[in-house]
Amino acid sequence: MRYRLLMPAPTHQDPGLLFDDVARFVPAGVDPPALPRSFALVEPLPANCPVPSSWRITPTFERSADAFIATIPTAPQTSLYGTGEVAGPLLRNGFVTECWAKQPFRIEEDGKPAPQYDEKSRSLYHAHPWVLAVRADGSAFGVLADTTYRLEIDLRDGIRLRSEEPFPVLVLEAASPQALVQRLVDLTGRIELPPRWTLGYHQCRFSYFPDARVRELAEEFRARRLPCDVIWVDIHYMDAYKVFTFDPKGFPNPRGTNDFLHSLGFKSVWILDPAVKVEAGYPVYEEGVAEGHFLSDPEGQEYRAWTWPGDAAFPDYTRPETRAWWAGRTAEFLAHGMDGVWVDLNEPSPILPLGAELPADLRHRGGGDIVPGSHAQYHNVYGLLMSEATHGAMCAARPERRPFVLTRSSYLGGQRYAATWTGDNSSTWQHLHWSVPMALNLGLSGQPYSGPDVGGFAGTPSAELFAHWMGVGALLPFFRTHNALHGDQEPWSFGARAEEQSRLALGRRYRLLPYLYTLFHDAATSGLPVVRPVFFADPADLSLRDEDHAFLLGADVLVQPRLLEAGNRAFAAPKGRWRSFTLVGEDPAADPAHPVLRLRDGAILPMGPGGQTSEEAFEGPLTLIVSLDAEGRAAGRLYEDAGEGFGYREGDYLLTTYQAVSKDGAVEVRVAEQEGHRPRPERELRVELLTDAGTVLASGRDGGLVTVQ
Ligand code: GLC
Repeated sequence: MRYRLLMPAPTHQDPGLLFDDVARFVPAGVDPPALPRSFALVEPLPANCPVPSSWRITPTFERSADAFIATIPTAPQTSLYGTGEVAGPLLRNGFVTECWAKQPFRIEEDGKPAPQYDEKSRSLYHAHPWVLAVRADGSAFGVLADTTYRLEIDLRDGIRLRSEEPFPVLVLEAASPQALVQRLVDLTGRIELPPRWTLGYHQCRFSYFPDARVRELAEEFRARRLPCDVIWVDIHYMDAYKVFTFDPKGFPNPRGTNDFLHSLGFKSVWILDPAVKVEAGYPVYEEGVAEGHFLSDPEGQEYRAWTWPGDAAFPDYTRPETRAWWAGRTAEFLAHGMDGVWVDLNEPSPILPLGAELPADLRHRGGGDIVPGSHAQYHNVYGLLMSEATHGAMCAARPERRPFVLTRSSYLGGQRYAATWTGDNSSTWQHLHWSVPMALNLGLSGQPYSGPDVGGFAGTPSAELFAHWMGVGALLPFFRTHNALHGDQEPWSFGARAEEQSRLALGRRYRLLPYLYTLFHDAATSGLPVVRPVFFADPADLSLRDEDHAFLLGADVLVQPRLLEAGNRAFAAPKGRWRSFTLVGEDPAADPAHPVLRLRDGAILPMGPGGQTSEEAFEGPLTLIVSLDAEGRAAGRLYEDAGEGFGYREGDYLLTTYQAVSKDGAVEVRVAEQEGHRPRPERELRVELLTDAGTVLASGRDGGLVTVQ
């Protein structure tokens, strides 16, 4: 059976303005208002989204015996990306993946499943029904299947989407991949500007236990003068893994633990799992039963599965009452002084048997604009709804502070509520490599705030691998070391050399924080990702399309890491000159654990002095690294604000455009433009001009003129 294109009725007042680059196609016979609400889109689209006559991409819908299929042919040399969180290469042509949030596992040689993923894993923790396509000429289009049901994305021959339920397809057109990502997040939402401390280094382990170990760890970071902002507390703090409890012996006084961390300049993030232990007398469980918060089977019986605490029930986050209950409990939890919340296992995943999933026929009761439905319908948004409730709790409990939630599972648009990490990776060079394309494809799918477990979660890295991972992790948006139950994985756990390499990696990160924070400001306003694929520098250059060892930090910094055990490889590099520079006296030629950094000609890179905490890293002199273009000019921007709170929304920020111009044999550097009413800090401005003959230094006052002779 063929489906016809549903031609739009002119329901929108000003379609040309809003939607001349977005069209929605619905299989014939499907009434758009009868479709379930969209979880990806921030605002519902008008009932019919107009299709301009010049529209280039029209999906074909068909129906097989057991599925609905939408096909979008692609012209030769079209490069495909996105599909959210996927292991494997950046370029997705030829791959088949599935939107079905899942704790992945592999079958080992002995036949036993192991919690790991690789490029053959059809689905991971996130569900992103989104493909970003770049045509040979560098123009782009995107395909969004607006469904929460299980969806197969087959990119072996064009784009083929398949689901058991009918689904609408949104097609987005854009002049470039950058414009397309911006358009995607216009529709699915941007990140909020995160608290600035979250951009620092995070140290995590499954688990630091007891409280004394957490304190000792914090002291050790300071004693060794290794920069760090955040210590994470994993599940062992709980009493028998019961959510919203504390182990009476191990963590008798969580407020005290947090106060101690704060006194040393750390923040803390503590984990929450969704599943609630089935136990008479446990108030969270009893309240959940009494108030109807748990999922049930079609017969109305409470559903239970085996998670960390044993048999457990699962909150039904589709219910507004359950989200409010969860938020209330989380707000009480936050009263102990945690600075952020980590929500895990929310695909949702039972622990045993490995690979188990919640049955598709469980009932979600919904409420508000969420209609009652099966788990097949709401499985993929379980993590999104849990993130939303947790984020809401943080906002309500501390309206004056910016929320920070890290989630393992989410759905397209999940960046509205939480940052993410790439789950339980392994301590291998292959997984070090995937850290890069995974962060890039998440960014191309609207989630700019992600990073891997540095060093790998499963297994123990060699000193060399750990040092390289620190070097790369320091340049990804979310920078956290984490590992499983075995082995220590702190910067000093692998001997003196790896510790020194880690110190340099951390030093680079902390010097770059002002630039990184500016990139997060951009992500929160324009929607562009923090790390970007190299082809963003020249979308029409086909030789860049599959480069996924190197990446761009913002538009101006090209990062070329060593990701292979065998040694470095040749990089596809964008045209033009990208001069290398260093930050803390590191020498990438002598030690490839430190990726080569290159600055685009015509760019100015703002940097701070570094420090032991992010607080320190934004104080003191400002350094501008300048690389002039062929016309002898360069420009760059710096965003600054209080780092916390919402004053920036009232104009308490400073967005400065610095400009360098070569004039009469000298180079003049000055403020070209500024925005916001935050006063300019009284500080020294140091300029490092990159030239063929080496780096030329000059200094003066920020806000005044600095001349480099
Ligand atoms: C899951 C998480 C991991 C965490 C562990 C214990 O495996 O992915 O990061 O440490 O659970 O909470």
